[in-house]
Amino acid sequence: MITNWDAAEEVYKYLFDCELRVCVDKDDGEVRQILHTEAILNPKQNRERITQILFESFNLGELSFQYDPLLVTAASGRSTALAMCSGAGVTQVLPVVEGMVIPGAAQRSNWAGDQVDKCLKRLLATESDIRDCDPYNVRKIKEDLCYVSLNYSEEVQPDDFAGKEKEFEMPDRSTVVVGSELIQAPEILFTPTKFGGRREDAVQQLCFEALSACNIFARSGLLQNLVVAGNNTRIDGYPERLEAELTDLVPQNSRIRVTAPPERGLSTWIGGSIIMTQSHARHMTTAITSDQYEEIGPYAASRLPQAIF
Ligand SMILES: Nc1ncnc2c1ncn2[C@@H]1O[C@H](COP(=O)(O)OP(=O)(O)OP(=O)(O)O)[C@@H](O)[C@H]1O
Ligand SMILES: [Mg+2]
Repeated sequence: MITNWDAAEEVYKYLFDCELRVCVDKDDGEVRQILHTEAILNPKQNRERITQILFESFNLGELSFQYDPLLVTAASGRSTALAMCSGAGVTQVLPVVEGMVIPGAAQRSNWAGDQVDKCLKRLLATESDIRDCDPYNVRKIKEDLCYVSLNYSEEVQPDDFAGKEKEFEMPDRSTVVVGSELIQAPEILFTPTKFGGRREDAVQQLCFEALSACNIFARSGLLQNLVVAGNNTRIDGYPERLEAELTDLVPQNSRIRVTAPPERGLSTWIGGSIIMTQSHARHMTTAITSDQYEEIGPYAASRLPQAIF
C-alpha cells in the first residue's frame, strides 16, 4: 500500500525516464496511454490518488487500471482460469470464467514474499550463527537457496535434514552454512500460523475460498486451469506444493492442473502488453481520458466499470 505519495511520484518519474525511457513531460512529451496494474480489493482512494499524480504530473491521454490476476489470465492465453499472483506484499486469487470475473470471489492477503524474508531473518538470528543478516542478504539466501518442502514435517527433522545444509557466500566473501531454515521460512506461505499469520492467509486456502465462491459447475474448469504468477511463486517446489495442498482440500478425484510458466515473474507485464497492443484485446480494459479527468478530476477513476473480458 502506498503511504508516501511524494516518493511515489519520484518512482513514476524514474520509471518513465530511466527504465521505460519514454518522454512524458507535461510540456514537450508525447501524449501517452498508460495501463497501470492494480491489486484486487485496492482502496478507491489509492486509485484516485494515482490518477491524480499521473494526470497532473505527466502528459497523459488515457489511463486504465487492470487487476494483476486478470493480466495473468490474458498472458496465459486462457479465457477461464483461477489466476493467482504472489509478489512481495500481496497474494491475490481471481476466478475468471469464459472471460467474466466472478463477482465476490476474489481473495487477497497481505501475506507474501516479505513475510518469508522476515521469518528467514528471525530464524537466521536465532537458529544459526548468522546473527545480523541485512535485508539484501536475507533475500538473496531466500531466492538462491530456499525451497518449499513437499514433505515438511519429516524433512524438517534434524536427522532428515542432515546433509542438506547449503553454503552461502556473503558479500565480504566469507561463507555461512544455512540449515533447515531453508525450508522453514517458505513454509509460512502454506502454514502461516507457524509465524503469527492466520490460517486463511495460506495460499491454498485463498485458492479454495475463491473456488468455493464460484458456481459448482465452473469449479472443475477452474481447478484444471490454476495459473500461478509473481516472483514469490518462483521458490522451488511452490507449484507442486500448492497442487498437493489443494488436492487435500477439494473433493476426492478432482483433477487439478497448476500451470506455472517459467516467465511467471513477468506475467502481468506480458498480459498488459497483449491488452495494449492487440486491437482484439483492447476491450479488456476501459480507460479514463484526459477530457474526463479535466471534467470530474480523480473521481473518474472510481467510476470505471468492473473489468470483464
Ligand atoms: N527466484 C526467486 N525465488 C523466490 N522468491 C523470489 C525469487 N525472485 C524474486 N522473489 C521474491 O518475489 C517477491 C517479489 O515478487 P514480485 O516482483 O512479483 O512482487 P511485486 O510485484 O514487486 O510486489 P506486489 O505484487 O506484492 O506488489 C520478493 O519477495 C522476492 O524476494
Ligand atoms: Mg506484483
